[in-house]
Amino acid sequence: MVAVLEVAATPWAPALALRAWHHDDVAMLTRMGPDDALRRWAGFPAGNTEEIRQWVTAQHDGRESGDRISYAVREVDPRGSGAGEPAAHVVLKLRRDGGEPVGEVGYWTAPYARGRNIAARALDVLCRWAFDEYASAGLARLELIHQVDNHASCRVAAKAQFSLLQVLPPRPPWPLEGHLHVRDEVVATPA
Ligand SMILES: CC(C)(COP(=O)(O)OP(=O)(O)OC[C@H]1O[C@@H](n2cnc3c(N)ncnc32)[C@H](O)[C@@H]1OP(=O)(O)O)[C@@H](O)C(=O)NCCC(=O)NCCS
Repeated sequence: MVAVLEVAATPWAPALALRAWHHDDVAMLTRMGPDDALRRWAGFPAGNTEEIRQWVTAQHDGRESGDRISYAVREVDPRGSGAGEPAAHVVLKLRRDGGEPVGEVGYWTAPYARGRNIAARALDVLCRWAFDEYASAGLARLELIHQVDNHASCRVAAKAQFSLLQVLPPRPPWPLEGHLHVRDEVVATPA
């Protein structure tokens, strides 16, 4: 059972509630409409209902296999009427390169919800959950990769405490160089 995650409200921003994607979300995801940034940077099938259905199924399958844990991110209405429709998506992709697990994160925010710092806040709680959940399996580092000209993504990385580790050479499907950012687990030192 994968946890439901929460981010506390701040004086400037509502709380965030993170839960699994459902097939009930397909209509909302389709309503987001075609969006170049989603397609280009996140490979999301924006605007195509059948492809979106398949995408939601893939999120379920990823949770079943444990190699792709994704969350729909909702802003919680401070007046207490619950959380609205999802505004963003965060995902932890786990692979095992022979030994200890390596985690890579991904994210996108719906076009109408951008500029409200949702992605970085949701990513931060996902990272803290991942380090906690997979500590015994040896997860100590999370990776985040974006193409060099995705400046909004680079800002999210910095705000979610990822450091730039390396500039990667272009590799298909990315025609330009990439940024590899990493966030390491902070291990408390005994007093
Ligand atoms: C990258 C992305 C997830 C940022 O999400 P967000 O929740 O809007 O994040 P923020 O509000 O922190 O904004 C990040 C940066 O986007 C830019 N930005 C601000 N408002 C924006 C808007 N309305 N539209 C687009 N970009 C905006 C700013 O440069 C901001 O940086 P700043 O906080 O230093 O000003 C979002 O732009 C997106 O979904 N892009 C397409 C998918 C994508 O690139 N995913 C990452 C793949 S590696």
